[in-house]
Amino acid sequence: MHTPPTGLYEAPLPSDWPEPEALGFGRVLGPYLVHAQHGEDGHWHAPTVSVRNALPVPVASGGLQYGLSVFEGLKAYRDPRGQIHLFRPRDHARRLQQSARRVVMPEPPEDLFMTLCQLAVQVHARYVPPHGRGALYLRPTLYAEEEALGFRPATRHRLAVAVTPSADPAPKHLRLWAEHELTRAAPGGLGAAKTGGNYAAGLAGLQRARENGYDDVIWLDALTRRELAEAGTMNVFVQIGDEVLTPPLDGTILAGITRDSVLRLLRAEGLRVSEQRISLDELAAAQMAGQLGAAFGVGTAARLVKVSEIGDGERAIRFTDTGLPARVYDALKQVQEGSTHALREWRVAVPTPQTP
Ligand SMILES: Cc1ncc(COP(=O)(O)O)c(C=O)c1O
Repeated sequence: MHTPPTGLYEAPLPSDWPEPEALGFGRVLGPYLVHAQHGEDGHWHAPTVSVRNALPVPVASGGLQYGLSVFEGLKAYRDPRGQIHLFRPRDHARRLQQSARRVVMPEPPEDLFMTLCQLAVQVHARYVPPHGRGALYLRPTLYAEEEALGFRPATRHRLAVAVTPSADPAPKHLRLWAEHELTRAAPGGLGAAKTGGNYAAGLAGLQRARENGYDDVIWLDALTRRELAEAGTMNVFVQIGDEVLTPPLDGTILAGITRDSVLRLLRAEGLRVSEQRISLDELAAAQMAGQLGAAFGVGTAARLVKVSEIGDGERAIRFTDTGLPARVYDALKQVQEGSTHALREWRVAVPTPQTP
C-alpha cells in the first residue's frame, strides 16, 4: 500500500466550500493529480502526486492528435461508519486494460491502477462527501504524451487520476431521443472501449436530442438503426411483461460496471432478465399490448435514472413506472454505500485517517 505524504493533504476545506448537493457533477475538481508514467524503457515508473495543473500535454502528442486516450470513471463512497470504499475498482482496472489494448496503448497493471486510485482518494479524503450524500468520482486517464507526429503507437504514456466530488443528481425522468441519422459505433469499431473518440462521436447526438426537446440521446445499432444500443453515458434497461431486458455486449456498447451490478441485483430479486436485442418496433408493439413497463438508464455518474419516453419525431414510446427503477436504485445505493453486508466483495476499503 502506498502511503501518501502527510501534512499538505490534511488542511481543512475552505470555509466557503459548497455542500455536496450544490457541487453538480464534474465542475469542482480535486486539487491534486496522482499519476505514473510508462516510459520508453517499457516500464511503469513510481506514482507521483502533483498539483492538478502541473502536467503539460504536448500539442504534438498522440493523446491530442490521434485520440490515444482511454479512461475510467469510478466512485469512492463513505459507509455508515465514515470508512471510504472504492466500488468495484478491479473491474474498472480490467476495463481500462481492455480499452488500452484496443487502441494499442500499454495496459496498466491492476495493482498500479489500485495504488493510484487509493492514493488519489487518500490525498482527497476530506473531499469525500459524508455517508449517503454523494461520492468522490475518480477519472483515471491513460494518454499518449510523447511528442511525435508520425502515426504509430506512442512510446511514452501516462496514467493520471483526477477526482471530482459530487452528490447524486436529483431524481428525474429522462426523455430519450432515438437518433436515426448519426451513429456512435459500428461492429468492429471502438464502441466497447472507453475512449475519447466515442464521446466526440456522440456529442452531436446529444445536441440533436436537445434541439428536438429531449434530454439525452439513445443510440441505435449502426447497421439497421432499429435496435437500442445505449444512451449518451448510460446503459439501458426496459421492462416488457414480466421480463427485464438490456442490449447484449456485442462490442458496440460499453460494458458498464453498473449494468453488470444491476443485472446481478435483478437476478437476486428473482426477476427474469435477458441480455438481448430490443427493437423500437418491439417496444411499440409492447406498448400497444399494454405490456410495456418501466425503462431506466444506469451508469457510475448518475447511478440510475428513470426513462419516461423514447421518441424519434415520428413516434413516442411511453414507459410506465412500475416501481422497479426505485427498488433497483435503492438496492444499488445500499451496496455502493455499504449500508448492507450483501455483495461486500464489490467494495475495497481505502485506509485514511478518519475524517468526518
Ligand atoms: C457510453 C457509456 N455507456 C455506459 C456507461 C456506464 O458505464 P459504467 O456503469 O461502468 O459507469 C458509461 C459511463 O461512463 C458510458 O460513458
